[in-house]
Amino acid sequence: MKLTMRLGKRSYDIILKRGALQHIGLLANLNRKVFIVTDSGVPPQYAQTVCAQCKEGHIHTIPQGEASKSLAMYQTLLCSMLQAGFGRGDLVIAVGGGVVGDLAGFVAATYMRGIDFINCPTTTLSQIDSSIGGKVAVDLGATKNIVGAFWQPKLVVVDPDTLETLPRRHFINGLAESIKMSLTSDAALFELFEQADVDKEIETIIYRSLLIKKHVVEQDETEQGMRAILNFGHTLGHGIEAVKGITGRRKQGLYHGECVALGMLPMIEDKKLAKRVRAVYRKLGLPARAGYNKEKVWAHMLHDKKVRGGNITVVKVPGLGCWRLDTLPSDQLKEMLMGK
Ligand SMILES: NC(=O)c1ccc[n+]([C@@H]2O[C@H](COP(=O)([O-])OP(=O)(O)OC[C@H]3O[C@@H](n4cnc5c(N)ncnc54)[C@H](O)[C@@H]3O)[C@@H](O)[C@H]2O)c1
Ligand SMILES: [Zn+2]
Repeated sequence: MKLTMRLGKRSYDIILKRGALQHIGLLANLNRKVFIVTDSGVPPQYAQTVCAQCKEGHIHTIPQGEASKSLAMYQTLLCSMLQAGFGRGDLVIAVGGGVVGDLAGFVAATYMRGIDFINCPTTTLSQIDSSIGGKVAVDLGATKNIVGAFWQPKLVVVDPDTLETLPRRHFINGLAESIKMSLTSDAALFELFEQADVDKEIETIIYRSLLIKKHVVEQDETEQGMRAILNFGHTLGHGIEAVKGITGRRKQGLYHGECVALGMLPMIEDKKLAKRVRAVYRKLGLPARAGYNKEKVWAHMLHDKKVRGGNITVVKVPGLGCWRLDTLPSDQLKEMLMGK
């Protein structure tokens, strides 16, 4: 299947096909220097498959985990490219999850003021969400994605075969972003989560999620308005992630999608729908009840400047497949968080 992200001169194709990595040489010009970034948790054969199709491929493997999305790692990659003589006409390819994609994308966005970038996402989260849309970034200490750019890829190759090696918890974690999109925009996709076997339907889930994200990004490439819809569950989710998320320092806790799953629940206004969403979480193994310190989460949200002038804007879901922006006094959000 092929989707085209229509962004004028920055348009690009998204190929969704089992085994597509084996044919990437037919989809893109690899007849140049290619800097392939992957991480130590991604089975090496994926990057090797890509490299074998390049005229001059250089594989760079970073340590797995969010801690690699750092300025230090960014500099290391730039230095390697410079040393290997990469020029303006050359190419960066990411083969991995959102960590690799965000970091390699930011390298591509800035090396010699920007060179071509291809993303080959290998996690559900990156195949569904982070690989398209052009947001690339690194973290600054504990502050996530604070240094970055909008840099659209030239091509995105989604090969669902790569998910076969992805640990189960990561597989489910990524699906939370798809549930998010279904709740605001695609009732049939939500019903699929309720009724179907997600493993059997994974291509449909990816496809429908990509369609939603593509539609949003095409209307709002640089997050001036409608792209806010993608933040459903994230205002609270980021607060939860700051307190309970797995980071470079904290080895145990919740993944991003798991935090977003929890963050969505208080924002669903239809109680019957919230119950259905909890049932989906239980079916998939996502957290359905809050096991976090709400006072700490709230303190973080205040600190995070998400609250401006005493007010905060959140995405709410009044019913399945619809959404609205709501600007509420911070006290009201605090009450929602505290479950009062
Ligand atoms: N740019 C965006 O729009 C955007 C959107 C959402 C999230 N993100 C970012 O994405 C990152 C999270 O991405 P993620 O959830 O993909 O995590 P990740 O990149 O850390 O990957 C998760 C783990 O799975 C391993 N892995 C990856 N592919 C594998 C495979 N096929 N088989 C076996 N193991 C595999 C990795 O080594 C890693 O340990 C965060 O940094 C987040 O900020 C970016
Ligand atoms: Zn997210």
